[in-house]
Amino acid sequence: MKKRTLVLAAAAMAIAGIGGCEIARDRGQEAIAPEFVLTYAENQPEDYPTTLGAYRFAQLVNERTGGKVEIQINAGGVLGEEQSTVAQMKFGGIDFARVSISSLSDVIPKLNVLQMPYLYTGAEHMWRVLEGPVGEDFLNSLDGSGVRALSWYDAGARNFYSVKKPVERLEDVKGMRIRVQESDLMIAMVEALGASAVPMAYADVYSALETGRIDAAENNWPSYDSMGHYKVAPYYTVDEHTRVPEMQIVSEATWEKLPEEYREIIEECARESAVYERELWEKRIHEAEQRVRKAGCHVVEFSPEEKARFQEAMMPVYGEYCSDYMDIIETILEEGRNSLDAP
Ligand code: GCU
Repeated sequence: MKKRTLVLAAAAMAIAGIGGCEIARDRGQEAIAPEFVLTYAENQPEDYPTTLGAYRFAQLVNERTGGKVEIQINAGGVLGEEQSTVAQMKFGGIDFARVSISSLSDVIPKLNVLQMPYLYTGAEHMWRVLEGPVGEDFLNSLDGSGVRALSWYDAGARNFYSVKKPVERLEDVKGMRIRVQESDLMIAMVEALGASAVPMAYADVYSALETGRIDAAENNWPSYDSMGHYKVAPYYTVDEHTRVPEMQIVSEATWEKLPEEYREIIEECARESAVYERELWEKRIHEAEQRVRKAGCHVVEFSPEEKARFQEAMMPVYGEYCSDYMDIIETILEEGRNSLDAP
């Protein structure tokens, strides 16, 4: 009886135009069903800066296409790890992703240039490079590989962290089994220090540290914190051996299917979301550092002399990985001399 009364009341209100907006809006939404429902892969947790950047990107695209393009964000690596994500994107199995450029550089070796050890004087230098002509050239360098670059995302500097003893000097890493990203350059960098490199997917690092399969790993403050690695590897050494920028990418197969007007919107929204991600990133570095320090982690800050020893030990990888691109390295180093964070 009560239900019937409610139904009648709703009908009366609708006829009178009261409360009809909701109904009209629902109908309106049905009328603009998306033309494209696309997937986006992200291997970081839901509240991570890159994931929040992805949600912002999806929201902007949805608004600016009037609901015609819906991008569904799949965080936490549910669509697979970065290497397999990139492989699937070549066939349009996944439409968008945010990846560390390490996962692309075995396919596009030129990308190694941007992740060389101790290349940048700091964040300001890296961003001057990425936002200038060099960065723009690199964004275009993916074409023909099966994926296209849309924007740069920040991932700060990477540092070593270990399970049993702190890394205070170069001698401490010798013989350590250190997890690296699945990239030849990353393997070579760690081996140049006299350690043994263990390439593995990001999702497997926690258990490898916990079970003693590896002695150490390396990553930025926010990853160390949000993946809980600090709980099993409490010694963090701020050596900043590399900065590995990240990219938002789109499958070329997907791109081919999109009309020009949506492509333009997607490009513009990706870049806008990148500005947002960088703001979040800045805050997150400090929050992560505070959190892990409070949790009792032991943080080692390197003296300039010790940093120079790491730098010198890693130098040979430039000859091995960048001999064809020394002109670009020179341009980047020149930019560093003009940067605010130059030593
Ligand atoms: C960073 C990066 C991830 C990457 C990870 C790794 O956390 O954001 O995309 O997978 O490094 O070390 O594999």
